[in-house]
Amino acid sequence: MRTIAHLSDLHFGREDPEVVAALVAELAERRPSIVAVSGDLTQRARAGQFRAARAFLDALPPPILVIPGNHDIPLFNVIARWLSPLGGYTRHIAADPEPFFQDEELAVLGVNTARAGKWSDGRVALAQIESIRARFGAIPESVFKVVVTHHPFVPAPGGHEHALVERGAAALEAAEGSGVDLLLSGHLHMSFSADVRPHYLSIRRSMLVAQAGTSTSRRHRGETNTYNWIVVDPPALSVEQRRWSGGGFAPGAAARYVKREDEWVRE
Ligand SMILES: [Fe+2]
Ligand SMILES: [Fe+2]
Repeated sequence: MRTIAHLSDLHFGREDPEVVAALVAELAERRPSIVAVSGDLTQRARAGQFRAARAFLDALPPPILVIPGNHDIPLFNVIARWLSPLGGYTRHIAADPEPFFQDEELAVLGVNTARAGKWSDGRVALAQIESIRARFGAIPESVFKVVVTHHPFVPAPGGHEHALVERGAAALEAAEGSGVDLLLSGHLHMSFSADVRPHYLSIRRSMLVAQAGTSTSRRHRGETNTYNWIVVDPPALSVEQRRWSGGGFAPGAAARYVKREDEWVRE
């Protein structure tokens, strides 16, 4: 059994200090097997914002796997945006924007979808699709495989219109062929979980997406601060939302899935 604390869209620079402190205390107590942060650590990719995000990450229980989001690439500083889009991120947060974690039960690959040229929408590169295959190809079936991106593969329920990550179908085909069962994303500031197949006709095998809301920022889009508490206990998987309720984090919506004959069935 493994637990993943899935955080996203921290947006330091627009963070709520009370929420930040409560999240640090909560994760210190809950001790997840891994903390995964699916991008947008800062609001404007400024050095002070990266330093604040770094201090937050340092206060969390390791291991931590983190990837950048579009807000971690400068938007208004055009020179930095094109010459060194991830300069601040790699200086302050992590030298490798494509981290990989593996133990006996869990393998997690971060895929950086943030691009200077598609600032808001993201993209998966062909080399990253190959790296999904290369990283997971040799790992036994018994190890639960997870991909983390910033940009979403599926739209939020309720008819929301927004762009999905470019080359998402090809990335999902690689994930499908490599035994990936779960994709973690952010960017939408809305939390939900779903099967990818209704959105991709080429995908035959059931894979789940878990979207995390904004964990610490005031940039709410109709949803309070949340993060996902994911329990991987094959053949069961649960995605429990932890919602900010004013004085602390409390249980929110929860979804439990069981894998039956290669199909994730929601209970
Ligand atoms: Fe964001
Ligand atoms: Fe974003």
